[in-house]
Amino acid sequence: MKILIINGPNLNLLGIREPNIYGREDYNALVDMIELHAKELGVEVGIFQSNHEGDIVDCIQDALGDFDAIVINPAAYTHTSVAIADAVKAVGLPAVEVHISDVANREPFRQISYVRDACVATVSGHGFKGYLEAMDILVNKDEN
Ligand code: DQA
Repeated sequence: MKILIINGPNLNLLGIREPNIYGREDYNALVDMIELHAKELGVEVGIFQSNHEGDIVDCIQDALGDFDAIVINPAAYTHTSVAIADAVKAVGLPAVEVHISDVANREPFRQISYVRDACVATVSGHGFKGYLEAMDILVNKDEN
């Protein structure tokens, strides 16, 4: 199984960015955690981050034929991007939405998620571990 992990805008600044909300560990630490977990699960991963909506749409489209599943944290685009939600629906790959913070208990504008409808599950508020949980969900889904 091959899982594509997509991170949206400002997640490259993890560790620097609002550490009270997103923690003190940086993006490279997140990548290391994901790669280690992929080894434990015996799956392959591709890891992508972009601050640009169209690049994220391109990345989702390019997954078709190459990846079996997607873990996506669209970051701020969660709350604004119909294009990213449509791309996930278009490729039809099983996808899990991840948020490091507990978006349900934050500002009202964070209560909207366009991508949620396109995903089989959402993991929110579990920090970096949420990405690993999302990978577990996709692997277990494959086994059933
Ligand atoms: C986030 C939550 C979003 O509301 C925010 O814009 C982000 C990160 C999270 O991982 O908690 O950039 O997706």
